[in-house]
Amino acid sequence: MSGTLENTVKEICRSHNNDRTRMMDVVRAVQERFGCVSSEAMNAIAAALRTHRVEVESVVSFYSFLSEKPKGKVVIRLCNDIIDRMHGADRVGQAFSDALGIEFGQTTPDGAISLEYTACIGLCDQAPAALINDVPVTDLHRSTARQIVADLKKHMDPRRLVHRLGDGNNAHELVHAMVVNNIRNEGPLIFSPVNRGEAISQALAMSPAEVIRAVKTARLRGRGGAGFPTGMKWEFTRAAAGKEKFVICNADEGEPGTFKDRVILTERPGRAFAGMTIAGYAIGAKKGIVYLRGEYAYLRPYLEHVLAQRRKDGLLGRNVAGKQGFDFDIVIQMGAGSYVCGEETALISSCEGLRGDPKTRPPFPAQKGYLDCPTVVNNVETFCCVTKILEKGPGAFNEHGSQGSAGTKLLSISGDCKLPGVYELPFGIKLSEVLKLAGAEDPIAVQVGGASGTMVAPNEFERTICFDDLATGGALMVFGPERNVLEVADYFLDFFIEESCGYCTPCRVGNVLLKERLERILAGHGEPADLDYLQDLGETIKTMSRCGLGQTAPNPVLTTLKNFRSAYEALVKQRDDGLQPAFDLSEAVADAEQIAGHRSARAD
Ligand SMILES: Cc1cc2nc3c(=O)[nH]c(=O)nc-3n(C[C@H](O)[C@H](O)[C@H](O)COP(=O)(O)O)c2cc1C
Ligand code: SF4
Repeated sequence: MSGTLENTVKEICRSHNNDRTRMMDVVRAVQERFGCVSSEAMNAIAAALRTHRVEVESVVSFYSFLSEKPKGKVVIRLCNDIIDRMHGADRVGQAFSDALGIEFGQTTPDGAISLEYTACIGLCDQAPAALINDVPVTDLHRSTARQIVADLKKHMDPRRLVHRLGDGNNAHELVHAMVVNNIRNEGPLIFSPVNRGEAISQALAMSPAEVIRAVKTARLRGRGGAGFPTGMKWEFTRAAAGKEKFVICNADEGEPGTFKDRVILTERPGRAFAGMTIAGYAIGAKKGIVYLRGEYAYLRPYLEHVLAQRRKDGLLGRNVAGKQGFDFDIVIQMGAGSYVCGEETALISSCEGLRGDPKTRPPFPAQKGYLDCPTVVNNVETFCCVTKILEKGPGAFNEHGSQGSAGTKLLSISGDCKLPGVYELPFGIKLSEVLKLAGAEDPIAVQVGGASGTMVAPNEFERTICFDDLATGGALMVFGPERNVLEVADYFLDFFIEESCGYCTPCRVGNVLLKERLERILAGHGEPADLDYLQDLGETIKTMSRCGLGQTAPNPVLTTLKNFRSAYEALVKQRDDGLQPAFDLSEAVADAEQIAGHRSARAD
């Protein structure tokens, strides 16, 4: 083993206290320093952290931003989600490829620049976009792609590619990004002016039980997608036995089409940190962790600065806001490119320095979470709502919204509309009103809730955005008349196949099968029975998968089958012999094993 590599890796591990649970930080640092986490580096990490080499390898192979093989000094990751493709990502990709003289997945012969595709990077409102190392570049065209390559060849410094700065804190020297916020509608809760420290003072003047009661009275439900009542989650965590308790803020925001947490973290991070602090007080935790997706690494220096300022001001640290005995601080844990890590148990595994494998529930994180201790996991926006509830009172919060869905919701709107961006709107608003605000003139379909959500047809645009009707973590993707909803569903399947952790057969294999059959239909080779096959297989995957990824992955197919049936029917033709092949799971699994190239584990 080369002495320099071994010593540097040892030093990186030492700077993380040789703590195995800091594995993500260690491997990220090694990747940044050497352009890969080589076999030798893995051995050195395993030795320093006193763990098995296979543990290190399993982490490195899991996350898309980590690699055993060397990558260029600069890595261009072009977002190829559906919205970016609709805005010309393929043409931009071709321009990058031509200018560099390499294909996607390759590195220039001098080892300088690698070119890759990546899943949604949270910039659909300014697509096509890419990450160049950590630096986001937006609104790309063929000409800008060529210019970027020419500039990089000169200076190899991604930060110098930022020729114009975005609005608000995007222009802060610690962010220094060309990203724009696109806040189209500032509602009364999330983007309202900040009364710094007020919510924490109000909370600390109450007992923890009273704080939880206030959150319950406000009828706050989680903003990350599932809509679980926040006060109830906190009550369970407070009541659970454990030597320590933890608060985790889910800033993974990997659902394609979602970018509202990016804007909160840019403009109102203090509001989310205050909510975490209040949660810490309510459940009896001393430590909070913000799990920040790797794609938002450019925000980290600014977020660290905000945290440092809060420590200075006594809003974090010992005796928070003068409350004797209440100590609470927050650290940032970076992710490394994995959608499934947004699922709370996978996210906890990642924070513990493991692969982001979802765990079987129960036990829920409230009982057994981070380091086996009771843990609250909430979305960034949820914590902001908490802050507002404590600041203004539960009544001022739940006077907005609808009966079952109190407050406002941040929507990330993108696609075929004139005004893509972030909208804070009251729950209960009709989809048609939202579309009007966003300048979506003649949509033929709207995907509500990201890739895992519902494809809604125009005859249902009078439905409302709320937990009891069209529930969403925030993403709305608009599709105009020139789009093919079946191709969109096909694209979403690609995404889920790529992001599945592979643990359970229905998710790993079933989605491959769904895709195969859908593509057969798209190619004009389908028959009516294929629609029943898609329905049966989709439902099987949903019911047999272990985590939310598999339980929602068939939604694009199932909801288009329901709401756009005529599009399918126009493509399938009746068999001449009148026979309808039936769905056979074992036969299907055998087919899929061939397609997936490996044998299936048993379904759990
Ligand atoms: C595949 C998958 C990805 C998820 N991604 C996110 C995410 O990026 N952000 C988030 O807050 N919740 C995400 N969730 C939901 C979390 O598991 C969890 O329910 C949420 O963080 C709880 O916070 P809340 O109650 O405030 O909504 C995801 C769930 C699944 C199944
Ligand atoms: S459903 Fe998919 S992502 Fe979730 S545990 Fe199973 S294989 Fe992994």
